[in-house]
Amino acid sequence: MAKFEPVLSKYFNTPESWLLRQYRMRGAPYGYETAKKVISTMEPKAVTEEVKKSNLRGRGGAGFPAGVKWSFLPDNGKPRYLAVNADESEPGTFKDREIIAKDPHNLIESIICACWAIQSHHAYVFIRGEFTREAKRLQAAIDECYAEGILGDDVLKLGKNFKLDVTVITGAGAYICGEETGLLSAAEGKRAYPKIKPPFPAVEGYFRYPTIINNVETIQCVMHILAHGADWFRNIGPESGPGPKLFCVSGHVQKPGLYEVALGTTLREIIDMAGGPIGTIKGIIPGGSSMPIMTPDQIDTPADFDSIRAAGSYLGSAGMIVFNDQTCIVNALLNLARFYHHESCGQCTPCREGLGWLEKLTHRLEFGHGKEGDVDMLNEVCGMIKGRTICFLADSLVMPVVSYVEKFREEFDYHVTHKRCMTDTEPGKFKAISEMAVTA
Ligand SMILES: Cc1cc2nc3c(=O)[nH]c(=O)nc-3n(C[C@H](O)[C@H](O)[C@H](O)COP(=O)(O)O)c2cc1C
Ligand code: SF4
Repeated sequence: MAKFEPVLSKYFNTPESWLLRQYRMRGAPYGYETAKKVISTMEPKAVTEEVKKSNLRGRGGAGFPAGVKWSFLPDNGKPRYLAVNADESEPGTFKDREIIAKDPHNLIESIICACWAIQSHHAYVFIRGEFTREAKRLQAAIDECYAEGILGDDVLKLGKNFKLDVTVITGAGAYICGEETGLLSAAEGKRAYPKIKPPFPAVEGYFRYPTIINNVETIQCVMHILAHGADWFRNIGPESGPGPKLFCVSGHVQKPGLYEVALGTTLREIIDMAGGPIGTIKGIIPGGSSMPIMTPDQIDTPADFDSIRAAGSYLGSAGMIVFNDQTCIVNALLNLARFYHHESCGQCTPCREGLGWLEKLTHRLEFGHGKEGDVDMLNEVCGMIKGRTICFLADSLVMPVVSYVEKFREEFDYHVTHKRCMTDTEPGKFKAISEMAVTA
């Protein structure tokens, strides 16, 4: 495989990379040159076919092929919408906000290409409310586009009768707004309650009109696929799910941050890019905190959709969190249980109540009040939750609980028998890196 050159983050460190002037200075294929070429020379269906051919899989969590999703849109003459998911609330994930803050025009150019493909005349970018800098940057970039005739009644002044508006919607900072149907409810001005599927949003979405929902990074890939071709994209990483990928690396690594690699780069190589681990690795969460944990013997697993899945976890949103051997796994799980329970929207009893039970059980284990049978009960409660809810938020806690207990059972049992943690961490507190006996 040829040496990988960053694609998505290539201009992140260029001064004022968010300004239209700077975006144009890069020259083709940037500066809206690709969007011009696509609208002038490609039929919308051909664009969808090219994206399908590229095997671009969704970067928001589920890894669904983007082109296939686009082709689910019904041909019923109704208006269609594109909703770009910039909620990014999964702990350990911090890539989409960077794309928006540092390369908003690249995202807008990709939105134009995607909207041409699906023949949508209105795109919404739903962004988490706390991302004020990002929302302002994006709005400023959109304003520049309207002022220059890039967006509006005649996109890029090409005379193609193609109108496109892009609207930023800010959420109120709830994790559930990132779930695609929760996002739709919130965008419609309601409480962010997820909806039962089917119907899927591509058939019945925003205000019941056909809507394509894609993650920011998924959409950002579109312009690059159209600029360089589907074959180029498929040559980056494994064919079943190729492309450049932003990995958010945090936890016990020397240089936490955002690293762009080709899909299929191993977990070890990505951790090495982040300066290597602090101490000895105990566990690796490959794709955001809701994903099953992996163990050090799996460190040579290629980080791509299918390989991580075969190893028992998911690539998810590529929020990679590294735990070293000074981490109390029960404490780490309590932290997650608090988060997911708090974020439950409350519609489904197994989620509303069940996540509460998981939090209470983990809390009493962590604080030395665990009883015989509590660890098994964690698994039993998970069994009563899994697959019984409207959306996957509940499973987002079930997956870590089941995998942490399976892989670190002795630590849970130790909490029951010794009423304290194996790593001598104060209950409810994480050990500061300065207090750790670093062993590697
Ligand atoms: C509880 C929950 C939270 C989610 N949060 C996000 C999010 O913040 N951003 C995101 O892109 N997808 C998130 N997703 C996935 C979306 O529902 C959806 O699959 C995704 O936006 C589709 O885009 P993609 O196909 O480009 O990945 C979440 C899913 C669940 C169940
Ligand atoms: S699973 Fe939880 S977050 Fe999802 S709809 Fe049900 S109660 Fe709400």
